[in-house]
Amino acid sequence: MSMRAITTVPPGGGVKLSEVNEEKGDGIRVRTFRTGICGTDKEIAAGKLSFARPEIGNSLIIGHEAVGVVTESNGNYEFKEGDIVVPMVRRPGSCRMCRLGRQDYCEDGEFVEAGIRGKNGFMRDEFTEDPRFLVRVENKSIQDLAVLTEPLKNVMKMKEIFQFLRMRIPWYCEDSTLSCKNMYVFGTGTEGLLISIVFKTLGLNVIEVNRHPLDENVMNYLERNKIDYLDTSSEGIDKKVKDKPMDAAIDAVGSMDVLREITDNIRNNGIAIMFGTSGQLPSSNFDVLENLVDRNLTIAGSVDGAKAHYSDAVKFIETHGKVMEMDKLITGTYEPDNLKIFMEKEKQEIKKVIAWS
Ligand code: BGC
Ligand code: ZN
Repeated sequence: MSMRAITTVPPGGGVKLSEVNEEKGDGIRVRTFRTGICGTDKEIAAGKLSFARPEIGNSLIIGHEAVGVVTESNGNYEFKEGDIVVPMVRRPGSCRMCRLGRQDYCEDGEFVEAGIRGKNGFMRDEFTEDPRFLVRVENKSIQDLAVLTEPLKNVMKMKEIFQFLRMRIPWYCEDSTLSCKNMYVFGTGTEGLLISIVFKTLGLNVIEVNRHPLDENVMNYLERNKIDYLDTSSEGIDKKVKDKPMDAAIDAVGSMDVLREITDNIRNNGIAIMFGTSGQLPSSNFDVLENLVDRNLTIAGSVDGAKAHYSDAVKFIETHGKVMEMDKLITGTYEPDNLKIFMEKEKQEIKKVIAWS
């Protein structure tokens, strides 16, 4: 059958709305409802993501953040028509971790990622999916917000890593909570904001850090969620940490400067999680690593997430979506032919989504 799809030719980039033909195949047929656009998609579109590659031929259907509705279950009992589902991005290769369902910790790099590398994505009217890679959204009232499940699952994995790392010593406060602990989050894009609200729910004080003045909507959003912020173009981080010591940090920017800022300012026994990537090489900055030993610092890298983290993300949206005003994170809904949204960043932009049905 023929349908609309947004395609790109990696690694060169570019995006166009095409008509593609596809055999329906076995599996669960899903009608796409919304797809989100993130930095990864913009980089693929700009030809800047070197690992982007097609599934077959030379063009790739882009899009890895999606929510859809089941139209045919093809005899599969787990899903039925009308179910709301979120597809997973990363698909296993054959290594041990992939066989354990933890392709997010793939040992040999043989996984594929829908819409990114080696597998067509979800920016199209419909797709057929293996039920193992679909996560159901039970609560239909969060159908719109469910497009945030995919970026949020990355944060659920970070939360798990953080909880694990802090157990190394008694990290809690004298009142048994985490209320005396400050976490600095670098980056105010969708991922940075999702990190902030998730860690806020753990009871930490969260401080969002940006290099430029924050957009007013972001500032208001943070204020309403009682998250502090710092614009380092007007106030140094060294000054801020005197007031609120940095006990933990998460980077959603991906630059060596941020790693430097973290290791220079974090307290002894600090925990840092690095999530951002930018392809920058750690040239002469290896001396940051000297900090680690004497000060018992822990730095963990984190990418992607497992199926359980998608389910955690759905639960988080169900529980906190309304109170934490997650709808404010979606700053625009566009038609599939509005391709300029891949190229430009608007003022006040957080998450842009495409409406397919
Ligand atoms: C996705 C991850 C993926 C990563 C690298 C991110 O945008 O959320 O699931 O592993 O890109 O390709
Ligand atoms: Zn993404």
